[in-house]
Amino acid sequence: MAISRSELARQLRGHVELLASGGVRELGIELKAPVPAKPKQPRKEPAKPAAKSAPAKKTAAGFNPVIVPSVALEELKGFDSDNARALEPVAEEVRTCARCTLCESRTQTVFGTGDPRSPLMVIGEAPGGDEDVKGKPFVGRAGKLLTDIIEKGMKYKREHVYIANVLKCRPPGNRNPEPEEIEACRSYLERQIEIINPKVILAVGLFPAQWLTGEKRPLGRLRGQVHEVNGRKVICTYHPAYVLRNYTVETRKKVHEDVLLAVDILGEPPLLK
Ligand code: URA
Repeated sequence: MAISRSELARQLRGHVELLASGGVRELGIELKAPVPAKPKQPRKEPAKPAAKSAPAKKTAAGFNPVIVPSVALEELKGFDSDNARALEPVAEEVRTCARCTLCESRTQTVFGTGDPRSPLMVIGEAPGGDEDVKGKPFVGRAGKLLTDIIEKGMKYKREHVYIANVLKCRPPGNRNPEPEEIEACRSYLERQIEIINPKVILAVGLFPAQWLTGEKRPLGRLRGQVHEVNGRKVICTYHPAYVLRNYTVETRKKVHEDVLLAVDILGEPPLLK
């Protein structure tokens, strides 16, 4: 499949950022002798329409969104359920979203993953470098720990849990989400929650905890309890990336206590397949 120069540049930037986030500071690049330029031939064929993956024209809001096929839409097609079908138009809207500047720097949108009938939803902050490249939430180092928390701590299969983020696009350099980005993205997560209608939501990290509870208290004050928000049960805990940075018995014990609150409400893991 032919690939446009802008798409190639975007993918290359994603890979370089991923290497940088893993600590790589230098790349040994072998420069080949330049290929002599061919004399320009007059163009006979009419210009082809823009490749599907090329950045779209500026939108009314003045953004130049990156629009590529959606990994989540593909995944949803594999689920034969009303919830999956109801999520498809939302995922399609996210795929082409141009509501904030993040649409210009993303490699792709990261809508969500897992079984849309799950009684458990895990909500994180925003895609990082790995997620931006792969199109799925929590696929990097923090994601590996999240998988352990779900599978070893809660005895759920990761693919039976629906995982999403407050933001659907990566903030450059993994900076914190800006308030206007959170607002621009708000209705997507609201609709995901409404469609999936989970029994429990586990918020991992400060931003999802404050988003879900509507409170401004620090995470240390929001965790350790079950919040009732608009008839939904919300439990807040530390972000796996924070746990990796503060890998103490105390932090891990607190996360364990929090997930047990969720397990208590959930009961036995469902046999979804
Ligand atoms: N951190 C998050 O909050 N979400 C992801 O998807 C990955 C890392």
